[in-house]
Amino acid sequence: MLVHGVLAPALEPPTGYLVWDRVTAAGIWPAGERMAQTILVTGGCGFIGSAVVRRLLANADVAVVNLDAMTYAANPRTDAELTRNPRYRLAKGTICDAAFVRAVVNDCRPAGVVHLAAESHVDRSIDNAAEFLRTNVEGTAVLLDAATAYWRGLGDAARAAFRFVHVSTDEVYGSLGLVGYSAEGAVYEPNSPYAASKAASDHLARAWHRTHGLPTIVTHGSNTYGPYQFPEKLIPLIIVRALRGESLPVYGKGENVRDWLYVEDHAAALTEVLRRGRPGEVYNVGGGNERRNIDVVRAVCAILDELAPDQSGPYGRRIAFVKDRPGHDLRYAVATDKIRAEVGWRPAIAFEAGLPATVAWYLANRAWWEPALAQTDATQRLGLAR
Ligand SMILES: NC(=O)c1ccc[n+]([C@@H]2O[C@H](COP(=O)([O-])OP(=O)(O)OC[C@H]3O[C@@H](n4cnc5c(N)ncnc54)[C@H](O)[C@@H]3O)[C@@H](O)[C@H]2O)c1
Repeated sequence: MLVHGVLAPALEPPTGYLVWDRVTAAGIWPAGERMAQTILVTGGCGFIGSAVVRRLLANADVAVVNLDAMTYAANPRTDAELTRNPRYRLAKGTICDAAFVRAVVNDCRPAGVVHLAAESHVDRSIDNAAEFLRTNVEGTAVLLDAATAYWRGLGDAARAAFRFVHVSTDEVYGSLGLVGYSAEGAVYEPNSPYAASKAASDHLARAWHRTHGLPTIVTHGSNTYGPYQFPEKLIPLIIVRALRGESLPVYGKGENVRDWLYVEDHAAALTEVLRRGRPGEVYNVGGGNERRNIDVVRAVCAILDELAPDQSGPYGRRIAFVKDRPGHDLRYAVATDKIRAEVGWRPAIAFEAGLPATVAWYLANRAWWEPALAQTDATQRLGLAR
């Protein structure tokens, strides 16, 4: 099950793969090459997006067009790997460019959209919220507009089957105490600029459904982890810093609790919602693996002690408690009864299986993350601005 990354050989980009810097008159799919169904994924070279693309491509009747700006968070090696599949195309550009987005949508004629493109790192949103507002809010509106215009022109059957899945986060619900869960419909209380921008985009997805009839569905995923995550987020950051012999920073006392969701489980939830979700509905997606940050970091250290021991001593000795993130939410946890009952999805990967698989992937795939870090050293502290 946990195989795609752990067992994959070291990644080498194939030569001569195509990148659509702009959609040309010839279109994305040359005449005659269109597949039975094309799904448009945005942000498909990011962490969760690439897992969604892999999952969709596992169905031989599905083609994927990935609209991605290839920001620092997108790894060209991920694209190079996906490009080995002839049913995959990258349309490189931003969701904020209305003419480009319209051209991509109209050319690839998707049966559905899974919208993941976003600025996604809370610490960066504390230092500079502008890009979060542009991509997460304005970009989502641009994409919704293009999808609506295209969807209106479809025949009856295609229009009825079309879905626009807007991928959001549990962070929009704000912080919980140590008990209780946020159910769908809970009040939104976003506390970071990132969460506020995602909340705004969720409202847009809802509004386009209510006002224009576009069959949008919103998902609220919990903290996701696994292979192919840019090493600015907690788990890969700790792995990479440990392997580089650096200190292992833990914000505050490390008591913040997150519900960890393995990336394959998150991707499966999104593709199932695309197939079975009801238009206008909202679904929480949670892993059922609540852990304090400090316990996650200690668990990563223990796995590294086994898989890649440091001769000078256990990795845990390098844990360093650092100044907390401003506005750091104590706990997020979502109720997942609705997606289980209506969509039939449930998480399959326990943290005890997913975490070692993740650590093993980073150990086996330095060629994926080392060049990315050479370009942007994202392991340095951000988001202290007040
Ligand atoms: N990572 C998590 O724990 C988590 C949990 C719940 C929900 N989400 C949501 O899932 C989605 C994907 O998250 P992720 O962690 O994979 O993100 P990521 O940062 O790894 O990837 C984001 C992708 O979006 C692309 N992108 C950014 N700005 C763009 C723009 N203007 N136009 C086109 N593409 C652009 C990037 O190039 C990158 O490929 C986001 O919407 C995020 O809010 C993430």
